[in-house]
Amino acid sequence: MRSFAGRDILSLKGFERNEYFRLFEICDLLAPIARNRKNTDLLKDKTLVTAFYQPSTRTRLATEAAMHRLGGQVNGFADAKMTRAGDFYQESIKDTVHMLEFYGDVIAMRHFQQGAPAEAAKWASVPIINCGDGWGEHPTQVLTDMYTIWKQMGTLDGLNFVLIGDMRMRTMHSISYAMTQFDINATYISPPEMSLTPEFKVELDALNLNYHEVEHIDKAIGDADVIYMEPVVQPDYTKARDERKGDVGLTPSNYQVTNKVMKKAKQSSIVLHSLPRMDELLPEVDFTRHARYWEEAFNGVVMRMALLASILGKME
Ligand code: CP
Repeated sequence: MRSFAGRDILSLKGFERNEYFRLFEICDLLAPIARNRKNTDLLKDKTLVTAFYQPSTRTRLATEAAMHRLGGQVNGFADAKMTRAGDFYQESIKDTVHMLEFYGDVIAMRHFQQGAPAEAAKWASVPIINCGDGWGEHPTQVLTDMYTIWKQMGTLDGLNFVLIGDMRMRTMHSISYAMTQFDINATYISPPEMSLTPEFKVELDALNLNYHEVEHIDKAIGDADVIYMEPVVQPDYTKARDERKGDVGLTPSNYQVTNKVMKKAKQSSIVLHSLPRMDELLPEVDFTRHARYWEEAFNGVVMRMALLASILGKME
């Protein structure tokens, strides 16, 4: 297995099955620190730099919380407008990360341009963690999600995943790569204009993913073990910031999970949503046996702890 020490986490393409299980083991080791709310000093001599060029609640704060839980330091920015990358100078990624690498030992980056973290990794002498790049990928979120499913279901093999929402979404790309490492059947449900692109389907075919597409949640819900959701009403992820202007519309019932829909689901099925949500996942589902998005949120801290500890060489 490849070492995680010093490694960039840019994509789940090529991320191997045994690497998922190694990270899950580390998560299990570190989870009590987060659960008991007792920080440790594992990374006391290390600093995380967060470079967020797009809004975030969960990813930035979970990554920062993970570093604090492990006794490390954190600096960075959550709004590029307050940096030279977001003002008159429009400072390049190359020049920016040539600075940031002196301010810490690992850089967690979110960017509106697909490929920006990979570009940063070319120039930085410290590891880069992709925290979401445009419509590209969101590897730390999906590592969190796979860990959550593994903990909840006891396995990742032999499961039916139903994926609902905008398939241009970065989580959908990362989870599609992740599913290729396990014995998973995938059913995708999205509006036609948000469906898997022909180019991405060619990639999934080459990676032997067993998948098909249907039009309505009702056609897939009965067989689902895991219902994995994203909004279909959402911002443009290629923008640094997309303000809501006027009426943004409602989610059609095809792509909505409600208590009525979940009545047709297996008792054992679970619903994951990385959040934030619009009306595609009604709050009434929060009170059912199926909701696992709050466990997913907690695991977001645990997985980032595992990644930081591994990348910074404390968990070989
Ligand atoms: N799920 C997720 O990436 O959330 P944030 O945009 O709040 O980080």
